[in-house]
Amino acid sequence: MSDTNTPAIISRSATLDKITALCKRRGFVFQGSDIYGGLKGTWDLGPLGVALNNNIKREWWNMFVDGREDMYGLDASILMNAKVWEASGHTGNFSDPLVEDTETGERYRADHLLKDNGIEAEGLSLGQIDSLILEKGIKSPKGNPLSQARQFNMMFESTIGATAGPEGKVYLRPETAQGIFVNFKNVVDTMSPKLPFGIGQIGKAFRNEIAPREFLFRVREFEQMEIEYFVREGEWEVEFEKWRLNLWDWFDHLGLSRGNVRELEVPENDLAHYSKRTIDFEYNYPGKGFDELAGFAYRTNHDLQAHMKASGKSLEYVEANGTKLVPHVIEPSFGVGRALTAVLCEAYREDTLGDSDDVRTYLKLPNHLAPYLACVSPLLKNKPELVAKARTVFTLLKKEFTNITWDDNGNVGKRYRRQDEIGTPYCIVIDFDTLGENPDLLDMVTIRHRDSGEQERVAISDIASRLK
Ligand code: GAP
Repeated sequence: MSDTNTPAIISRSATLDKITALCKRRGFVFQGSDIYGGLKGTWDLGPLGVALNNNIKREWWNMFVDGREDMYGLDASILMNAKVWEASGHTGNFSDPLVEDTETGERYRADHLLKDNGIEAEGLSLGQIDSLILEKGIKSPKGNPLSQARQFNMMFESTIGATAGPEGKVYLRPETAQGIFVNFKNVVDTMSPKLPFGIGQIGKAFRNEIAPREFLFRVREFEQMEIEYFVREGEWEVEFEKWRLNLWDWFDHLGLSRGNVRELEVPENDLAHYSKRTIDFEYNYPGKGFDELAGFAYRTNHDLQAHMKASGKSLEYVEANGTKLVPHVIEPSFGVGRALTAVLCEAYREDTLGDSDDVRTYLKLPNHLAPYLACVSPLLKNKPELVAKARTVFTLLKKEFTNITWDDNGNVGKRYRRQDEIGTPYCIVIDFDTLGENPDLLDMVTIRHRDSGEQERVAISDIASRLK
């Protein structure tokens, strides 16, 4: 391999705008309902986005559910009895402070407006927010006066069944966690788990965010990957520490550099209504700075207690010695969209290869996350003998890996650029030497490496092991 192809420029050149544009251009993420002008706070995953998203979820499930003896999987319904949300406290407490532009009627999150004006608004009461807005003369982004702040509940409501009475009211779940709590007894009764143990779930959650913004960062419909890890009360601190380290392992596995991830201890006055301790794991989103990537909370036994009280059903756990207890809970909670955004921001690169002046864009995705592991192509698409051989190689690899793509559009240089931009680690090219024009290279293909641009000759029979 030559070393003249070492990247000449490596910089953290990502911005959320560049990522959004690449995602649209290359089929990762599209605006929801695009042809109708979009629907704010919704995004659709395109062919490559769904592949990356699925890879993230598969890796998470492997690491946190299938890879452990003390974890059980679950897939609860999105629609749940409205009593669930009353018991959990979401009907009363799951709200953000809202202010309106008194002239246009546009709505804003009061804490975000204060933050944009350099005021830390975490944990402030509505009265305190109003006083600060008055005192500092804060106006809406359109320059108009603001209304008084009020709490806005973020749960989407719907009605179930044919009658539209209050008894038919349902909410789209704002977190997957409650599906786990209400199934706690089912899992205990069917699986007989020993404490400490956890239940993991991946699924959609919905929040009627006042101000969705910044690509996938704050949206109204998103996926969560959540764990409720049940412990004896006296064990929570030890288990919390173990999970804290597990979270770091996960972010390493996503390829996020340690310098771009940090922990933020949430101050007591800003803890969610159910939490005694929370650490927000934050990612350094380019152009935005550190903001939440995942939440990590000690929820005490607030939820199980609340559901016991409201449902009248026992959610106690019985120890081998007959002791009954209501377990406490540690909750690592991950947003898939935020993980996907962080992975793209981390992977985004612009550089030149060798002595070329051309700047290329590429995604330095870890192999286990890349939508395609490899792209197979014939050097020329109008030479049937090259195409036939390339097809044989493609079929062989497709059977073994599935995430192999075929590309015979344009010239080989353009294919490399296209595959670089979607993060494909390897391009495999079948040329005349593969067919035996140079007998020494018979049945050998060229494998070109995305990050370095280096190329090597590999026997067809060795490609699969080379890609592993
Ligand atoms: N069960 C706990 C819980 O839901 P959270 O901090 O509100 O805690 C957990 O949410 C994670 O879900 C966040 O760290 C974030 O990754 C993701 N998330 C929350 N709201 C989101 C939104 N509006 N858009 C995208 N992701 C969101």
